[in-house]
Amino acid sequence: MSELIVALDMQNLDDVKNIVKEFDKKVDFYKVGMELFYSEGKRAIEYLKNENKKVFLDLKLHDIPNTVSKGLISLANLNVDILNVHASGGFSMMKFANESLKEFCYKKNLITPKLIAVTILTSIGDEDYEKIGYKYDVKNQVLNLAKLTKKAGLDGVVASVLEANLIKQNLGENFLIITPGIRPNFANINDQNRIASPSEAIKNGSTHLVIGRALTLANDRLKALEEILKEMEI
Ligand code: C5P
Repeated sequence: MSELIVALDMQNLDDVKNIVKEFDKKVDFYKVGMELFYSEGKRAIEYLKNENKKVFLDLKLHDIPNTVSKGLISLANLNVDILNVHASGGFSMMKFANESLKEFCYKKNLITPKLIAVTILTSIGDEDYEKIGYKYDVKNQVLNLAKLTKKAGLDGVVASVLEANLIKQNLGENFLIITPGIRPNFANINDQNRIASPSEAIKNGSTHLVIGRALTLANDRLKALEEILKEMEI
């Protein structure tokens, strides 16, 4: 069963509370990213946890192995469910970060968050991609990074729906494939590029659908949520 994760991309905790109250039991997984975490910090996480929500803290760490592992250990104290790093930080960084995080949680008897890695951002289209200068095409680069992520012991990746099926076929069922860049028919594309609809995400094997603005900026948020949940039922 694929799960919906609603991205709370806003600065103000009161706005977050309005959405969480409005969606109530219909949504139990939220994503906190840089925008909210940098302005409200751990208050935002504590609020969501008090409401019994699952939290994906999406800070996309990308630094040397020691810095990333210590950063993740600091974040593990917040009892979140998913944390992430950039796969392009490399195999050694990912392996060390994952082992340090999991050992710390085990020793301190904390909930062990899943650690996943961002492959290629869903906002990157052909033109931007070419300029970065990778030697493979997007799909193969995403697959390479996903394989590296699994080899380093992590629990899954963030990728677009367009690569989800390829990842699932190569890396199996137990590897999380978290897909942002989801656009239901009624929504604006905004800055995203490698996009797909909720039903395409499900068909392609996405385990978690991250949806932000199509829900949080909708004129009628509950109606948008209902449409998305219905599309996910296929
Ligand atoms: O509003 P929208 O649905 O485009 O939001 C997508 C969310 O997923 C944003 O919070 C963005 O930071 C995040 N994300 C992404 N692409 C990635 C990784 C994370 O869009 N590769």
